[in-house]
Amino acid sequence: MSVRVKDYITTEDFTKEELLDILNVSLLIKKNIKAGYPLNVLYHKSLGMIFEQASTRTRVSFETAMTQLGGHAQYLAPGQIQLGKHESMKDTSIVLSRLVDIMMARVQQHNTVVELAKYSTVPVLNGMSDYNHPTQEMGDLITIFEHMPEGKSIEDCKVVFVGDCTQVCASLMMIITKMGGHFVHYGPKDFQLKGKYLEIAEANCKVSGGSYLVTDDPEEALKDADFIYTDVWYGLYESELPKDERMKIFYPKYQVNMDMLSKCAPNVKFMHCLPATRGEEVTDEVMDNPDVSICFDEAENRLTAMRGLLVYFMDKMEETTEICKKNLGE
Ligand code: CP
Repeated sequence: MSVRVKDYITTEDFTKEELLDILNVSLLIKKNIKAGYPLNVLYHKSLGMIFEQASTRTRVSFETAMTQLGGHAQYLAPGQIQLGKHESMKDTSIVLSRLVDIMMARVQQHNTVVELAKYSTVPVLNGMSDYNHPTQEMGDLITIFEHMPEGKSIEDCKVVFVGDCTQVCASLMMIITKMGGHFVHYGPKDFQLKGKYLEIAEANCKVSGGSYLVTDDPEEALKDADFIYTDVWYGLYESELPKDERMKIFYPKYQVNMDMLSKCAPNVKFMHCLPATRGEEVTDEVMDNPDVSICFDEAENRLTAMRGLLVYFMDKMEETTEICKKNLGE
C-alpha cells in the first residue's frame, strides 16, 4: 500500500485514482451541502492561510470551505506576518505547525511553498506559485466532469489552453495528461510550454494513454476542441514585457471570441481561471454567453474542490463519505 502524501504541492505527487477519489468526495460534499445537510467533520480545526499575493477565489473558497466543514480559517495577509522580514520560512513553518491544523500558501516563488512543506508537521496546500496552481486544477477537473460532452469521458476530451504559458496553463496540462485526456497548448512560439513541463506531459501520457501538443497552428489546435481555456496576457509578473508589446504578440490571433469558438467542436465550452481582462484574452460575448461559458461554474468549483481537498488532507475521507451518503440516503 502506498504511503499518503502529506502535502498538496503538485498533482504530480498523486495517482489518477487518488485525484479521482478527491474529485468524488468533493462532488459528494457539494451534493450534501446543496441539499442543506450540515457537515462538521473539521470541527474546531484551524487553517492558516499565507498570502504573498492578492486573491479573491482562492482566499474566499478556502475560508468558506473551512466554515462549512465546522472549522476556521485565518487570513495571514501579504506583509502582515513576520515571514520574509524578521522570521525565516523554516521558523514560520515550525511555529505555524504548532498553532494550526493545516496550512495553505499563495507564494511568489514555488520554492517558498516547498520549503514551508518541508519544515511543517501539518499538511501544506499550494494556493498557487509561479510554477503551478494545483487547487485550480482540481476545481477545473470537477467543472469538466460536470460539463462532459454527451457520450464522452475525460479520456476522449480535447482540452485546449489558448495564449501564454502561465502556471495555470501548466497546471491544466498536468491534470489533463494525468487523466488521459488530450491537451493542446495553442500559443505564440516564444510563449509555449517547454522544458520540464513537456517532460511531465510526456511522462503522464505514457502512463495514462493521453496526448499533448504545443502549436501555433489554429487549425490543428482548435479542430474538435471540447474545452477552450485561457488566462490573462498581462499583469502576472514584474519581469513581463510592457503591455503594448505583449498585446502585439497575442492580439488578435489568440483572443477567445465567437469566431475562434466556431472552429471547435459544436458544443465547445469556454473556461477561464479568472480574473479575466475582458476585451483582451476573451470577449464579453464569450464570457457572458450561457451556452458556451462555464467560467463562473468553474469559479464556484474552487469551493467544491477546497472542501474535498481539506477533507482528504485532514484524513476525513471515510467519515465524510459515510455521513454524506447517510444524509443523502445513498
Ligand atoms: N483563479 C484564482 O486563483 O483566482 P484568485 O487569484 O482570485 O485566487
